[in-house]
Amino acid sequence: MCGIFGCILKNGNAAPIIHAALKRLEYRGYDSVGEATLYNGRLYIKKDQGKIDEAHKIHNLDDLPGNLGVGHTRWATHGAPLEVNAHPHVDCSKQIAVVHNGIIENFAELKLELENRGHVFISKTDTEVIAHLIEENLKTNPSLGLAEAVLEAVGRLDGSYAIAVISTKEPDKIICARNESPLVIGVNENAIYFASDIPAFLPLTNRAVMIEDGELVILSRKGFEIRKIADSGAVSREPKLIDWTSEMAVKKGYPHFMLKEIHEQPACLRNTLRLQEHYLELMATFPDRAREVFLVACGTSYHACLAASYMFSKLAFLATYPVIGSEFVEQHGKSVNIDSTILAVSQSGETADTLAAVNCARQRAATVLGLTNAIGSTLTRVSRVYLGQQSGPEIGVAATKTFTSQLSVLVQLALRLAKKRGKVSQDEMDFLAEKLEKLPDTVETIIRGQEEKVKQIAKKYKDAKTFFFLGRGVSTATAYEGRLKLMEIAYVPAIAFPAGESKHGPISLVEHGFPVVFICPKDETRKTLMSNIMEMKARGASIIAVIEEGDEEIKKLADDYVEVPKGIPEVLSPIPFVVPLQLLAYYMAVERGHNPDTPRNLAKSVTVK
Ligand code: G6P
Repeated sequence: MCGIFGCILKNGNAAPIIHAALKRLEYRGYDSVGEATLYNGRLYIKKDQGKIDEAHKIHNLDDLPGNLGVGHTRWATHGAPLEVNAHPHVDCSKQIAVVHNGIIENFAELKLELENRGHVFISKTDTEVIAHLIEENLKTNPSLGLAEAVLEAVGRLDGSYAIAVISTKEPDKIICARNESPLVIGVNENAIYFASDIPAFLPLTNRAVMIEDGELVILSRKGFEIRKIADSGAVSREPKLIDWTSEMAVKKGYPHFMLKEIHEQPACLRNTLRLQEHYLELMATFPDRAREVFLVACGTSYHACLAASYMFSKLAFLATYPVIGSEFVEQHGKSVNIDSTILAVSQSGETADTLAAVNCARQRAATVLGLTNAIGSTLTRVSRVYLGQQSGPEIGVAATKTFTSQLSVLVQLALRLAKKRGKVSQDEMDFLAEKLEKLPDTVETIIRGQEEKVKQIAKKYKDAKTFFFLGRGVSTATAYEGRLKLMEIAYVPAIAFPAGESKHGPISLVEHGFPVVFICPKDETRKTLMSNIMEMKARGASIIAVIEEGDEEIKKLADDYVEVPKGIPEVLSPIPFVVPLQLLAYYMAVERGHNPDTPRNLAKSVTVK
């Protein structure tokens, strides 16, 4: 999730305006920064790795000439967070500059094709192909205008993008285009701006035009012109007045980052479906040939590992051992060896306990694989192979969107392993792949349809002294995560167990009105789960069930229920089923008067053991 911004001014220099706007977008990523301007028929660029202030200290980002330019603050997805991979990216002739937020899925094919035509690439990014594609279009058809060349180029891109292109060929224009990555235009009497998000230009103007998927925009001193990418047809849209404060704008109008991030999950899940095939394939080779596979993580990431152990077992018939990071050295430090594979899962890539486990495993010559949201983090540096989970920065301390993204990547890895090991029929693979594709929409439906209901449930139970969360099979991981969320942000002591184990102790706590949350997908565990619900009900518990839409049997038993769409395969179920639990924790925290974004005593990234 990068930030892009640019402007065309009637008077004055664009660079300081771009620099200030990028600072306001820094929450979207800060791996590197760059600006490009056009002046007197020449392209000027400054860029470097690191945070904006660090790069500015070295390069003086304000010192670029010209009143037209583009800028970028990066959240690395393809290519390490190094200067060479910082945007803007240019073509061979260094006449075209591109900034991009998103992921180009077919960049490897396009790159090969362009290399065969003689293009020379400098970076490891997916973005660079866009500059070369435009260059190629202009070379093969010199009569094309810049907008047409961009139009043709984006027609060849699969994936998500919000891009902005400038060129010495038409030095009075900026061409932008959007597909599944945010893009807004801002206008006032003196300038026209584009940005990933409104906060970037809010101090300069409150008149904004939202650009939609499949649209291209031509910015010039005269104003803006929107066209459809599909047929180049003109679109007319008037600016809207934005009445948000800057703080509201950063949260996109949501009262808290956590709620914004819960709502971002459909988009994040779409991004996770754009993993680079060859990395997934490469990563799958190691667990396939290991003697033992450990899934190591802390906190929410551990719950993703727990769920993954069911996925690997059910899909790839591979036993894996989920281990809490801080326990790994004690539990397996002496036995882990050259035949072991450790898949470390860490959103931040910096969690000390997870890294300690990784270090121990490396010292004993085990293979270390990483799954993280922070490309360039320590975990990516020490892993033999790593995958980026593509969630974008998460600001709320409680992990939400990073959890569902991790699950999506892990299930894709399990499916890849299943294929390699020939354990699942092609029909089943196709069925699961289709359901996985639909998950972003499923999650969207849950948020849209159930949020109000969850809010009412939170109101009803806001004074509860404690909660149980119970599930069976893979839903045990969902139950653990629901409990952690509630405990960490609403400060409600809560207990989670595999439902079958609840009668071996926890049930003694249950008395009249004790809230018990059951995770109830319609899978093979359902029948026994029903018995567990009845056991609890018989002792007076208040049953809150997360069920499949129209599950009348459980509806009858439950005091309250939340529904998720029908037909979700068991191995995918933690992704949609955890969403109501995230919302429950959020609204419980709000009802109890706590700020869910900054729970006491907790940190987003715990870098001490
Ligand atoms: C902290 C955070 C949790 C997170 C855990 C692991 O405890 O508050 O939200 O799940 O660290 O973090 P990681 O970055 O390794 O996923």
